[in-house]
Amino acid sequence: MHAWLCENPIGVDALSWKDLPTPQPGAGEVLIEIQAASLNFPDLLIVQNKYQMKPPLPFVPGSEYAGVVRALGEGIKGLQIGQTVACLSGTGGFGTHTLAPAKLCMPLPDGFPAVDAAAFIMTYATSHHALIDRGQLKAGETVLILGAAGGVGTAAIQIAKAVGARVIAAASTAEKCALCTAQGADAVINYGTENLREAIKTLTEGQGPDVVYDPVGGELAEPAFRSIAWRGRYLVIGFAGGPIPALPLNLPLLKGASLVGVFWGDFARREPQANAAMMAELARWYSEGKVKPVIDRTMPMSELKAAYARMGSRAVMGKLVMVN
Ligand SMILES: NC(=O)c1ccc[n+]([C@@H]2O[C@H](COP(=O)([O-])OP(=O)(O)OC[C@H]3O[C@@H](n4cnc5c(N)ncnc54)[C@H](OP(=O)(O)O)[C@@H]3O)[C@@H](O)[C@H]2O)c1
Repeated sequence: MHAWLCENPIGVDALSWKDLPTPQPGAGEVLIEIQAASLNFPDLLIVQNKYQMKPPLPFVPGSEYAGVVRALGEGIKGLQIGQTVACLSGTGGFGTHTLAPAKLCMPLPDGFPAVDAAAFIMTYATSHHALIDRGQLKAGETVLILGAAGGVGTAAIQIAKAVGARVIAAASTAEKCALCTAQGADAVINYGTENLREAIKTLTEGQGPDVVYDPVGGELAEPAFRSIAWRGRYLVIGFAGGPIPALPLNLPLLKGASLVGVFWGDFARREPQANAAMMAELARWYSEGKVKPVIDRTMPMSELKAAYARMGSRAVMGKLVMVN
């Protein structure tokens, strides 16, 4: 097998494409031949030692992937050799093969292509848990989505539309805004050229959005929070923009508003039954055509460094997927 190995987490340049012995699965594990693996923002952080999860060295990055089960360890029930699965195991995806815990493998129904499957779990689970569980978004409410053309952002647009909300999508370029409109956004704000607060005020007739979905942070957070509606819910998803913002606490007081943390990974670990029910709903929505990953492009696995550069330079729209 081949894989991108991180022996020193000082950045993408230190990754090397290695020829490694193909491992045999231990108890509870399966060997997966990887067909597709998507890039998520944490994949960028983990190779720089900036992510909360710090795997022992050396490790193969690649949090999320899909492929074919080629060998089963002891004690596996419900998975078979030759079956296609999607898996989010945190590491291992950027290679030709990996070992994965069987309990993290989601068997794929017919008609769920590997490229879509590899781009599905992290973004859709995060956005569903955020908007519906943590944010209590209801039909007829307005949601403002920042970084709306990114991975979690495009999933959030589709999920908010699936529950009947009005979507204001905000992104940094006209091209990204056009993508958001194509994904069903009711209105867009280009915060590369427009004043965010003024645009929100105009689009909501001064009322503000009921829910703000924020995977960007940085300088967008305070103006977005200042614009929120009475009883609004501000969803803290991530800080792709860099700095972790600080907010004056009089702002939630004045709006009767809530600042709501979202950590899908721990939700899945602590509340596995609720997570499984959510994933089942998302799989049904996929089969009904309500949600479908936006694929920025596919690239050969060997071009991982170029893919990382594309994500780091803010160029990805939707999901970038590496393929073998
Ligand atoms: N809380 C959770 O459970 C959870 C789960 C998954 C992901 N996340 C977090 O969500 C965030 C987004 O993840 P993602 O996979 O959707 O990433 P992504 O596809 O790269 O999207 C991030 C968006 O952030 C914006 N951005 C602003 N400044 C940026 C910068 N300096 N570099 C890169 N992007 C920048 C970009 O939109 P514009 O150019 O339009 O501003 C970009 O489209 C990350 O912080 C990630 O860690 C959180």
